[in-house]
Parts: sequence; structure tokens; C-alpha cells
Amino acid sequence: MKYLVTGGAGYVGSVVAAHLLEAGHEVTVLDDLSTGFRAGVPAGARFVEGRVQDAGRVLDASYDGVLHFAAFSQVGESVADPEKYWRNNVGGTLDLLAAMREAAVRRLVFSSTAATYGEPAVTPVTEDCPTAPTSPYGASKLAVDHMIAGECAAHGLAAVSLRYFNVAGSYGSSGERHDPESHLVPIVLQVAQGRRDSVSVHGDDYPTPDGTCVRDYIHVADLAEAHLLALTAAQPGTHHICNLGNGTGFSVREVIDAAREVTGHPIPEVVGPRRGGDPATLVASADRARTLLGWRPSRTELTDIIGDAWRFAQDRRSEGERV
Ligand SMILES: NC(=O)c1ccc[n+]([C@@H]2O[C@H](COP(=O)([O-])OP(=O)(O)OC[C@H]3O[C@@H](n4cnc5c(N)ncnc54)[C@H](O)[C@@H]3O)[C@@H](O)[C@H]2O)c1
Repeated sequence: MKYLVTGGAGYVGSVVAAHLLEAGHEVTVLDDLSTGFRAGVPAGARFVEGRVQDAGRVLDASYDGVLHFAAFSQVGESVADPEKYWRNNVGGTLDLLAAMREAAVRRLVFSSTAATYGEPAVTPVTEDCPTAPTSPYGASKLAVDHMIAGECAAHGLAAVSLRYFNVAGSYGSSGERHDPESHLVPIVLQVAQGRRDSVSVHGDDYPTPDGTCVRDYIHVADLAEAHLLALTAAQPGTHHICNLGNGTGFSVREVIDAAREVTGHPIPEVVGPRRGGDPATLVASADRARTLLGWRPSRTELTDIIGDAWRFAQDRRSEGERV
């Protein structure tokens, strides 16, 4: 099959593109390199440097589907500059859907997020939980989920929105390199590499076993496998939403301890006050992904996830790349 991967020079998109190529598919990556890296595009993929807003110049009827990762995804930045998020995440997807309609490409997998739920009152979080995003980033992704549902109903698109929880780990030569970095695992590993003095723990008085927030960490390669399954999961005119997480929570302190074990570094931590908008526990119910997609995550140990992230971080360091 032939697929367009928007945002395939970024972290998750590059890992999914690699999996598609390994499965024997033909892949075109469309990325404007706004937060991604040319070197992240896997060998074997055709690369088009450009915006998702211009997908019409790339797409034609020879494509079997689109996997749409291209977006801005910094929660804090979205609060400070919401219009940037509406324009790129929502406006960009609107243009992509129009290009897909024009080219008669009728299959889509979209990167949605747990941030669409905001601060859910129940755990584990199912897809039926109310959506109440607490940031323009989460709101922009929820708006796209609604937009896709309408496109399916009105124009026969077959689509799956995958709501990722906390993605971590690496695959081959692809790994996480956001700038600025806001995710816990790469931040902790930056401390182990001596690039930060300590890791900040935002509150240790939550109603959790050790007082720190609990999150659901999913290995990026398990996440990638779900995308390949999702490509054929929807019928024309149907939109499915699936959470993607392991269904197991790990606390901030457990992540730091696992990173100490993996790296052999003491990783100093500094406990500060709680951060507004952080729920105590955010763990996915992955039941729907298991039943609808037949998905089974296989890299669920925290030390395995962090071990792969560490290997990528050390490889980059030894290559002397920009940090
Ligand atoms: N990483 C996570 O933990 C996580 C969690 C939930 C959801 N997501 C979603 O998954 C997707 C991928 O996340 P990531 O962590 O790989 O981010 P990333 O920043 O590494 O990748 C995004 C890619 O999209 C490209 N891009 C952005 N806007 C574009 C545009 N208008 N046209 C063309 N290319 C554009 C960037 O250059 C980048 O390569 C995003 O949509 C994000 O919201 C990620």
C-alpha cells in the first residue's frame, strides 16, 4: 500500500514511517521541519519538505491512506499562543481533509491525545469519559476529532483517532528530541547525561502511593504497531476513537528510580509545588484498542522503555548532535 505520513520527520511519525516501510509499504513523508528533523525521516521513505496545508500538491488517487502526525504539541506554548495551535492543528487538518477528498483518498489515522480529556474524574480513562481539555492544545486536538467525525459521516471517510497517553522509548535510529523538552523521560535522561542539574518533581502530596503523579507510559514501537492495525480498522463512513496506553500507571518517582537503575546515575530531584491542571492519576483503559484493533503492547516494563530512550540519548550524544 502507499501512505502519506504527515509529520514523519518528528518523533512518533518517524517511528511509524519506519514500521510501515518494514511492513513493505510505500511511504511519503510530508513535513515542514518546524519541530522535526530531516535526519529523522527513515531511509526508504520519499521526503517532501512542505506544509500539511499544501498536502493537495502531494496527494493523488495512488495513495491508499494518510497517517496525520503533523501538529504543534507543547501544552504551555498553546496557553501562551493559542492562535498558533488553532491555525496549525485545526486549520492544517481542515486543509488536509479537503486535499484527501479532492484526491479520493479515503482512509485516515489521526494522532489525538489524552489531553482531550483534561482532568478526568475516573481512572482508567475510557473513550466514553467526558472530554474537557484544559489547554488550547488539547482543545485543538478535540476539535480535529469532531472534524474527522463529520467528514466520515458526510463524505465516507474511514478514520481512527488514536488518543496517546505518555509516549516514550525509541526505535532504531528514531527517538524523542523535542526542543524545548517537556516530557519526563527525556528530561530525566538529560540529568543523567549532565545536561541538567536535577529533575523537578511538581508536587509529592497527591493521593497516590508515593505522593507523586501517576501516568501511563507507552513504548513508541507498541504505539506504532497500533497505527498499522488502525489503518484497516474502520469502514467507510465510520470514525473510531481509541485510547493508547498500557493500562498501567507509574509515578514520577518510579520513573526517576527506573532511570537511576538504567543509567547508574544518581539523578538528583527537587520537589516543588503542584502544577496547575495536573491530575493525580492519568491511566488509559486500552480495552477498545485491544478489541477493535487486536492490539497487544509487548514492551510494558518501565526499565525497557527507559532503556531504549537511554540508548537513543547516548547514541545522539556520541554522534555529537545538537542537543
Ligand atoms: N509525543 C507524545 O507523547 C504525544 C502524546 C499525545 C499526542 N501526540 C501527538 O502525536 C503527534 C506527533 O507528536 P511528536 O511527539 O512526534 O511531535 P514532533 O514535534 O516530534 O512531530 C511533529 C512533526 O510535525 C511537523 N509539523 C508540524 N506542523 C506541520 C505542518 N503544518 N506541516 C508539516 N509538518 C508539520 C513537525 O516538523 C514535526 O516533524 C502530534 O500530533 C502530537 O500532538 C504526541
